[in-house]
Amino acid sequence: MQGRGSMRFIYITLAVFMMVAVAGLGRTANQGQALETSASDTELSQALIDQNYLNCFDLPEISPELPGAPRIEDGMQMSQNIVNCFAWQEFIALNWTASLDHDGQADMSIPASMFGEPGDERPVVWETYKEAYEVFLPNAVAPNPWNAEQGIPEVCMDVAVEGARELPSLAKASEAVQVLDEFGQANSAVSDPNAWLTAQSGHRAHYEVRMNEVEFDYIVEHEFYNALKQYEAVQEALEEGGPGIYFPLGTPDEPGAIEVKGAWIELDNPGLINRYLTAEAYIYNEQEEDPDCYVATMGLIGLHIIQKSNDQWTWATFEHVQNAPSIDEIARQDLEDVYRFWSPNCRVDCLPNKKPSADQPYDQPIQVVRIKDIADVGSWGSFQNNVASLNAWMQAQIRNINPDSVFQYYELVSVGWPVEEIKNDHPTTSPLPYQEIIPASLANSVMETYYQQPGINCSDCHSVAHIAPSSADESPEWRSDYSFLLSRADEPESDSGDAEE
Ligand code: HEC
Repeated sequence: MQGRGSMRFIYITLAVFMMVAVAGLGRTANQGQALETSASDTELSQALIDQNYLNCFDLPEISPELPGAPRIEDGMQMSQNIVNCFAWQEFIALNWTASLDHDGQADMSIPASMFGEPGDERPVVWETYKEAYEVFLPNAVAPNPWNAEQGIPEVCMDVAVEGARELPSLAKASEAVQVLDEFGQANSAVSDPNAWLTAQSGHRAHYEVRMNEVEFDYIVEHEFYNALKQYEAVQEALEEGGPGIYFPLGTPDEPGAIEVKGAWIELDNPGLINRYLTAEAYIYNEQEEDPDCYVATMGLIGLHIIQKSNDQWTWATFEHVQNAPSIDEIARQDLEDVYRFWSPNCRVDCLPNKKPSADQPYDQPIQVVRIKDIADVGSWGSFQNNVASLNAWMQAQIRNINPDSVFQYYELVSVGWPVEEIKNDHPTTSPLPYQEIIPASLANSVMETYYQQPGINCSDCHSVAHIAPSSADESPEWRSDYSFLLSRADEPESDSGDAEE
């Protein structure tokens, strides 16, 4: 298991690393082209944008209704501002208190006036999605049913939980286990195991990955938790036609596949609980031989939401407003009182966004800045991206409905979306299309801290995601529809044993 795991690790590493290198080289020219095309293709004029500065057909509401795709009216073209509104609606619905009866659904009886109530013990919708490690099990064992409870990992069994939470809050704590054994940053983790992120408090950030029920059902139905089944599906599609691996699409009324990635930081100052979505969580370092497990209060610092909408994924990313300032904000001295990942008084290793060296102590803070101002991410030509004004408007809406809501302290960075129709509903080995996705530069400052370079966006990396290595194909190049999740699959022990003989 260990061996296979690290093989897979290195393989993704190489793929992502090469992709980023290629993207960096080829991006600028291609991107200009794509943007020009889209600007002239769309009929949206500056006057129309000014008419309603938020400029989307469905203004986000403080409601648990989760849209499956951005909606456009007949004759209109999709625009950045429409997907921005869509992303905020996703964020609100996914952060609604979860139903007690059915994982992954909102409790519709919770009023909007309770949205983001500080210190709420109950998990929110996305926290009741299935975490990756519950689905991709050693030896490709079938996962437990959607609503099954998640047990506490063995290393944490002996930890006395002070004022232990009752279900489902305990479920929240236990399901958060995956977050807390992972310290490595998104891609940095795969290309460089030392690329952790330490806050000014000296605590490291933790990450977790989850999927919704539509995606879970798709994976279970096709047994894609088994690496061999992924390989077979591709072979079958090559021989008989068909999509191979293609996650279910959503429509405006019906969500398709959704994947989320959350980032958390330990909050040791009780005053901060009023400003963060919090979770009591078990923490241990999976990389350690004999790890200690402890329980801590964590605050959400970042959330990626990707949803298969219309023809393709949309790539939304949110952050807490007190993560780190942008370069422009520092220049303008337009700063929050305090940031978790940036300090004006930095004295050691102050070069921003610098990956830690292998021997750097874990508790040495890393100075983080946002390379691009939020207002500039996704703007082009006369198309002013509205994210900054939309954020201010949404934060005010949230405050109006619940002045205490922790979600008034979160902001959308931007949303990646395809300006051209991209269909990859057949097996392919080449990197999937990525240059048609805008904005061209898009990263989360606490999830892709070290990859905020201009010209790199979500799909640059995700276009190289591939199916899991198996005894049938040890270094597969068949793409997995932009999702890295499938590469976590193992294969049944007996099969792999037979094949190796
Ligand atoms: C530099 C490469 C890189 C960039 C840029 C990047 N990602 Fe990822 N992302 C990865 C890798 C590698 C993984 C799998 C490892 C992990 O889970 O950390 C991943 C995992 C994810 C996951 C969990 C599901 C999955 O596919 O494994 C989501 C959701 C996600 N990324 C969304 C985004 C969004 C949204 C953006 C842009 C704002 C983005 N990513 C930018 C490399 C990248």
